[in-house]
Amino acid sequence: MNPADIASWISDAQKAFAAASDLDALKVARLAHTGDKAPVSLASRALGSLSPEEKASAGKLIGDAKAEIAKALAKATEKLEVERDAKVLLEEVVDITLPVQRTHRGGLHPISIIKNEVSDFFIEQGFSVEEGPELESGWLNFDALNIPADHPARTMQDTFFIEPIESGVVLRTQTSPVQIRSMLTQEPPIYMICPGRTFRADELDATHSPVFHQVEGLVVDKGITMAHLKGTLDNFARHMFGPDVVTRLRPSFFPFTEPSAEVDIFFNGRWIEWGGCGMVNPKVLATCGIDTDIYTGFAFGMGLERTLMVRHGITDMHDIVEGDLRFTRQFGVGL
Ligand code: DAH
Repeated sequence: MNPADIASWISDAQKAFAAASDLDALKVARLAHTGDKAPVSLASRALGSLSPEEKASAGKLIGDAKAEIAKALAKATEKLEVERDAKVLLEEVVDITLPVQRTHRGGLHPISIIKNEVSDFFIEQGFSVEEGPELESGWLNFDALNIPADHPARTMQDTFFIEPIESGVVLRTQTSPVQIRSMLTQEPPIYMICPGRTFRADELDATHSPVFHQVEGLVVDKGITMAHLKGTLDNFARHMFGPDVVTRLRPSFFPFTEPSAEVDIFFNGRWIEWGGCGMVNPKVLATCGIDTDIYTGFAFGMGLERTLMVRHGITDMHDIVEGDLRFTRQFGVGL
């Protein structure tokens, strides 16, 4: 137990700790240099057999050696822990700058978007949104709406008839038959709209499509007047075209309304025809079993393609019909 031996234990331990390349290697070195069988530990246990004088000086040397070794161990531990942490940070790093695979979520067609917009607007005001079949009985599509058999709208040019002709079934030419369906099945007050697909034997061109969409509106209640119609259309127009839009009613004729009007909007500096409207013809109310002494009503109907085209300056119906995503995406996904 001479001082030179003790000094070599210290330097052996210091070298071993410094040489450990990671915490596992350091653990092995720690057991070798501070464990039960390490020279300092054996020497420490051997102190008991020494004389009191020897014990005092050797005890001090060994105590100092242990402190030195512990210091070297702490230093190596700290260094290797810092290295390990840095390595973990590096290995587990997530490169958030990597470009992700962009897949398009798909989206709604602009006609569906505008249909939802119209529905939300009227639902907020307590209207119900009704649906009717696209294959409709001729009676509901025409007769009940006071469109007589010799009316031009009934000719083969306008209407797709379903075979056999005697079935009386047509592809609905307008959403107005849904008015009749609502009045036949509901007691007033009735506040409803019906957006939906309609069909006419037209060629597809810049402004026509054989398949198109309308939105119908119907109100039947006590004391309904044309002022209610005008107010409803004003609000509707402002919702669709912005707060500065102006509407005007122009006298017109529809068999199912009396009086009837065209509703025009003043938009982008000019008057544009938007749709038809009027007070529900008492004949139509009576057909549906509604007491015309108690109730009056108004109705309106407009094309959704037309609304979209006017609002967005779309000049060609083909763009709406063909489903080219470069066109559709400009309207947002609307999901
Ligand atoms: N159904 C008519 C059309 O297709 C539009 C219309 C006009 C609907 C006046 C109405 C209305 O409800 O009152 O031309």
